[in-house]
Amino acid sequence: MNVAFAEAQPSDADTLVVGVLEDRTLTPSAAELDRTLGGMLTRAMGSGRFTGARDKLLDVVAPSGIAAARVVLVGLGKAAALDDLGVQSVGGALCARLNAVGARHAAILVDELAGTKVGSTPPAALVASAIRLRGYRFDKYQTKQKPEDKPTLERLTIVTKAAAAAAAAYGYLDKVVDGVFFTRDLVSEPANVIFPQALAEQARTLSALGVEVEILGDARMGELGMGALLGVGQGSVRESQLIVMRWNGGKTGDKPVAFVGKGVCFDTGGISIKPAAGMEEMKYDMAGAGAVIGLLKALAGRKAKVNAVGVCAAVENMPSGNAQRPGDVVTSMSGQTIEVINTDAEGRLILSDALWYTHTNFKPKAMIDLATLTGAVVVALGTYKGGMFSNNDDLAAKLAAAGGAVGEPLWRLPLGDEYDRDINSDIADMKNVGKNREAGSIAGAVFLQRFVGDTPWAHLDIAGMAWAKKDFPLVPKGASGYGVRLLDRLVRDNYEGS
Ligand code: BES
Ligand code: MN
Ligand code: ZN
Repeated sequence: MNVAFAEAQPSDADTLVVGVLEDRTLTPSAAELDRTLGGMLTRAMGSGRFTGARDKLLDVVAPSGIAAARVVLVGLGKAAALDDLGVQSVGGALCARLNAVGARHAAILVDELAGTKVGSTPPAALVASAIRLRGYRFDKYQTKQKPEDKPTLERLTIVTKAAAAAAAAYGYLDKVVDGVFFTRDLVSEPANVIFPQALAEQARTLSALGVEVEILGDARMGELGMGALLGVGQGSVRESQLIVMRWNGGKTGDKPVAFVGKGVCFDTGGISIKPAAGMEEMKYDMAGAGAVIGLLKALAGRKAKVNAVGVCAAVENMPSGNAQRPGDVVTSMSGQTIEVINTDAEGRLILSDALWYTHTNFKPKAMIDLATLTGAVVVALGTYKGGMFSNNDDLAAKLAAAGGAVGEPLWRLPLGDEYDRDINSDIADMKNVGKNREAGSIAGAVFLQRFVGDTPWAHLDIAGMAWAKKDFPLVPKGASGYGVRLLDRLVRDNYEGS
């Protein structure tokens, strides 16, 4: 999709979009268009239910005499309640409608409205990036798609008095969306396409943007003593990979911020095998790794002034004659031993080595892992908020603020000694499950905590967020790319100073 910002209305748009505030209050550009059309917009609103409530839309067929074929009225709600997220939500709803009505070139007239809560990012840029985010499709395997089922929108002209400022802000947001799309592509791909080495090859493509990429295979990880990670991968014919990415956009010598991703390219559960129903969903068990790779793409794309490290543990969890068994004891890179009670609690096993490797190698100022770690977090929080655990209140507050700002919210859950005691094992230093079925997500988090030392750390359990089961304003049904915008915002707000 081609996006342009202009001060004047284009003459060749087939669709004009104007905003309406609550109680059918026309924005200045809507009022001007209404005058040109002899009061037609006011009349159209008067005969129906459209009141300008936020995210509601009304299509009006344009009369002869103007070039556009239709006018779309978009509800903005109360001006006083309209913030950045609200503007993006409107953009997302609009995207879906424009594609549904068959618009090819839409001109959106964005006014500078008084009395809103919109921040410093020009709303015109927010609308454009929201439309891009919602317009994502993964249809490469649909060879029989009819033309009428394909999205139509090819060109977008955002008409705004602040065209230059909006274009500059969009230049930034556009790079972040590139990162989100990379994540969505990786997560959408099935496991016969994205297996550990294929994921590593995809990460390697970031070197074109200046990211240093290093891949460790089974042999090197064996030398490092990563027995927990390799134990999970040993049942698969695919080799496991540790993907290490570095973006050095900050000052030389400045400690990095580290991001660690769970990359289980397919999770059958291993010998503790999962039921068949729904098992196909476990192709997205690498969404944490996908988000870390997309984040590095976003940071490099926008040339973030930060030193960032991304480490992804990529494995396939399979049952086979060579698979690890329940009861096996493995030794992690940290030297701590783990009794594998349930081979389906594999995410914490691979992350234990990835977290240890990351904090001992890079001494990061903060370390954040993303993982589709537990079904229990979906029971606790559903699919609207990600679970957050942290040993550092300041980092937790920064993450919560970043998530709130971009609409990828987090909810903090506790760590604690009493939970930690529940993962002690009779035969080894710890076991990979907690007590019965209680506090399953916390059991995963306290397990990970044993591998982070004193590093300020946060664990984001994104099992409920990685895949959207329905459309959301900025996320069409499917892989969400959750985490990329959140962590990009965390970096921008906290780690790029000076
Ligand atoms: N990958 C799953 C968690 C998951 C569930 C992700 C649903 C996305 C959607 C994870 O590896 C797993 O199997 N966790 C087990 C842990 C249990 C065996 C302690 C779970 O949640 O049941
Ligand atoms: Mn599992
Ligand atoms: Zn898993």
